[in-house]
Amino acid sequence: MASLGPTLSSTISCLNLLAELSHNHNTIRIFRALSCNLKPQKSSYHRRLFKSSFSSANSKSSTSNCSKTLGSVLVFNDNLVVLGIETSCDDTAAAVVRSDGEILSQVVSSQADLLERYGGVAPKMAEEAHSQVIDQVVQDALDNANLTESDLSAVAVTIGPGLSLCLRVGVQKARKIAATYQLPIVGVHHMEAHALVARLCDRDLQFPFMALLISGGHNLLVLARDLGHYLQLGTTIDDAIGEAYDKSAKWLGLDLRRSGGPAIEELARQGDAQSVKFSVPMKQHKDCNFSYAGLKTQVKLAIESKNIDAGIPFPSASIEDQRLRADIAASFQRVAVLHLEERCERAIQWALEIEPSIKHLVVSGGVASNQYVRARLHEVVARNSLQLVCPPPSLCTDNGVMIAWTGIENFRLGRFDPPPPAIEPDGCQLDLRPRWPLGEEYGRGRSVARSMRTARIHPSLTSLTQASEYQNS
Ligand code: KG4
Ligand code: ZN
Repeated sequence: MASLGPTLSSTISCLNLLAELSHNHNTIRIFRALSCNLKPQKSSYHRRLFKSSFSSANSKSSTSNCSKTLGSVLVFNDNLVVLGIETSCDDTAAAVVRSDGEILSQVVSSQADLLERYGGVAPKMAEEAHSQVIDQVVQDALDNANLTESDLSAVAVTIGPGLSLCLRVGVQKARKIAATYQLPIVGVHHMEAHALVARLCDRDLQFPFMALLISGGHNLLVLARDLGHYLQLGTTIDDAIGEAYDKSAKWLGLDLRRSGGPAIEELARQGDAQSVKFSVPMKQHKDCNFSYAGLKTQVKLAIESKNIDAGIPFPSASIEDQRLRADIAASFQRVAVLHLEERCERAIQWALEIEPSIKHLVVSGGVASNQYVRARLHEVVARNSLQLVCPPPSLCTDNGVMIAWTGIENFRLGRFDPPPPAIEPDGCQLDLRPRWPLGEEYGRGRSVARSMRTARIHPSLTSLTQASEYQNS
């Protein structure tokens, strides 16, 4: 388990573990005077006070959001309505989701123009773009759901990992709503949300399951044991697959307005995937880690060797040049996905040794919206007698639904914060977690190369969950 050290008190604020408590709308409202998910400068968060206040108030139920405790399992007759806010990267997203799984609204504003102009995400520009649209995106989500803030049971917001400048915009908005309407607030791990949205899509999906989470910044293979409990079987030692798609698209002069992934996927359909001999990364490493930096370089070299000028946009290139670009896109995609397939095959073996009851592989994150990726992974899963669970593309790329749903799942277990104070105390810093691992590393999966990059990493979600459960027991 990662060392929690002095950061634990600040992290608990977002992850109150109040299992075995009943809660409802009314009981939540009594916490308006208590602390928030700010990083206290000196004192620690009053978790025990929160817990005892909560316990003593739980009989005063008068809304339909009631629950009862059976052993350690919360059984909900719930009718929660949660607003989810996501701003960790370049999409400003909000959604309203009900705890029975009904998506009441979903709004995404993407920074297409900025992506095109800068060829990627520029944090300062992205922050500005989030700030410009966040109010409207949230308002639209509420309007489309035919609700107002007063109808909400809680607000969920991504607190990490991601770009801190961008995370801040969403967290500030969520806190403002929660403070004004006295709503509890759930701090969500972006990658946990990518995994858990699969449970919204497939209500039979039970823990434990495996998840391959593939996005612009992350490439994770995890064994999901329970809510908040993840064993990391593999991660990337450098770039994620989405980054390789995005850079390849940029170097091939493609239209980046829908991001590089869809552009490569579309072009690859016209190319010969065997024409350029890229080598599959990390063949000699018999683990489940990933590397895409070398493949990116191979693509760049191939483009240079064929004298392709990325300055000439694809539609303006000659027919022969377009064919070469399509061949590179197809060959890149084949090898990029082969790397996923090989690591998944091994990870499935490892995971089944640890948890023989596993039946599902969830594939989620932006790159999971790719049809070729889905088809190839379907083969892998079928070969291993598992089932593939892939959310629809709109729930694979960043969205507010996954944040709202993860908020609901955590809220049900009492993992939330009380409403923030109307006036934030001086000297408080927002609890943002730009580098925040999801799980604890599986011993066999440890990569030597990765240990170089562990500076300033927040304790993992799993270690915090374990620590909080221990303190609550
Ligand atoms: O999960 P996501 O929306 O944001 C992050 O958390 O990063 O993933 C974005 C990534 C981008 O790299 C984008 O190019 C990639 O997902 N992506 C795709 C496709 N759609 C989005 N990659 C390949 N094929 C796609 N169809
Ligand atoms: Zn994402």
